[in-house]
Amino acid sequence: MTRFIDVHSLVRLVDETGVPEFLVTLADALRDDFLRWREFDKKARVASHSHLGVIELMPVADDGAYAFKYVNGHPHNTQVGLPTVMAFGVLAEVDTGYPVLLSELTLTTALRTAATSAMAAKALARPDARSLALIGNGSQSEFQALAFHALLGIEQVRVFDIDPRATDKLVRHLAACTPMEIVRADSTAEAVRGADIVTTITAYQGHATVLTPDMIEPGMHINAVGGDSPGKTELHPDVLRGARVFVEYEPQTRIEGEIQQLAPDFPVHELWRVLLGEVPGRERPEQVTVFDSVGFALEDYTALRCIQQLALERGVGRQIALVPELDDPKDLFGLTASGRRRAVLRRAA
Ligand SMILES: NC(=O)c1ccc[n+]([C@@H]2O[C@H](COP(=O)([O-])OP(=O)(O)OC[C@H]3O[C@@H](n4cnc5c(N)ncnc54)[C@H](O)[C@@H]3O)[C@@H](O)[C@H]2O)c1
Repeated sequence: MTRFIDVHSLVRLVDETGVPEFLVTLADALRDDFLRWREFDKKARVASHSHLGVIELMPVADDGAYAFKYVNGHPHNTQVGLPTVMAFGVLAEVDTGYPVLLSELTLTTALRTAATSAMAAKALARPDARSLALIGNGSQSEFQALAFHALLGIEQVRVFDIDPRATDKLVRHLAACTPMEIVRADSTAEAVRGADIVTTITAYQGHATVLTPDMIEPGMHINAVGGDSPGKTELHPDVLRGARVFVEYEPQTRIEGEIQQLAPDFPVHELWRVLLGEVPGRERPEQVTVFDSVGFALEDYTALRCIQQLALERGVGRQIALVPELDDPKDLFGLTASGRRRAVLRRAA
């Protein structure tokens, strides 16, 4: 049987663990998996574009487990009452192809993205960074703030969104659950001024220039998350040209990341090499670093593995017959009334 984690089950796992603790657990697991990068069979995700957004399939595997995520990105969705990003995913045994876990990944995507952002910033930002500017205060934003507080000790978060109601919501949530100082800004430039780390996590279907070169200060780390598909970017290209740029999986980021705006030979460095000590991260305190995040399948593999383990430990989720369990594995027809034989659902939790 396949373990099914719906939204309610995932919320239970997160609530029982606590959001900050969940983020720290995920970041540790992500780091472990990035350190064994070479063991994974990797490919750029398969994207299906329309004029309003994108639907993507994100596969990855190691020797033991195969994972994929279905995810969309539709910036106009909030106007029709739907989230911009929605996702679910599967974990399967490589040896048999058996799907062992089917899970919600919408909430999980926000958690794993924030954990990845903070894990990257830990390797790339100045160690004395204490303030974060958060541009784009939608679904992902609370998780980003909490991850940077839990993993980097960020004490002040400076927030801005073109939609003041999104900022109202973020400020309300953060004020209720963190000791961080929250500074509400009237513009991106005001939020960014003096910040050690800047996260851009906006949703806009086009080439936006959320950050322009005049806003960038020496020593900043920029965590650019919202530009994640062809034709959808957040940074002025000169911000990238003035920085040392890090990516998840270069073949995918060349197509989808901020660096799609630059020449194909613009130098970038994959984060896993920094974590392994093969490539330097930040080279000097005043250097500007950019993590050009688009979201890579390995991050969802890690999240699915964490969910699987937590769900098993705590008995969360339920078993569903996603694929048939047959007495005779060659007798699929026996499932049907016409086959006059009944398949027995036999595998237990
Ligand atoms: N890299 C990754 O791994 C990853 C993962 C998840 C989501 N994302 C991307 O992150 C973005 C945010 O996702 P979300 O779920 O929070 O979306 P959301 O729609 O809930 O929130 C986006 C917010 O950005 C604001 N915004 C748009 N343009 C802006 C601008 N110029 N300045 C300030 N604010 C602006 C909107 O008003 C909105 O409140 C999306 O583009 C999504 O595709 C990336």
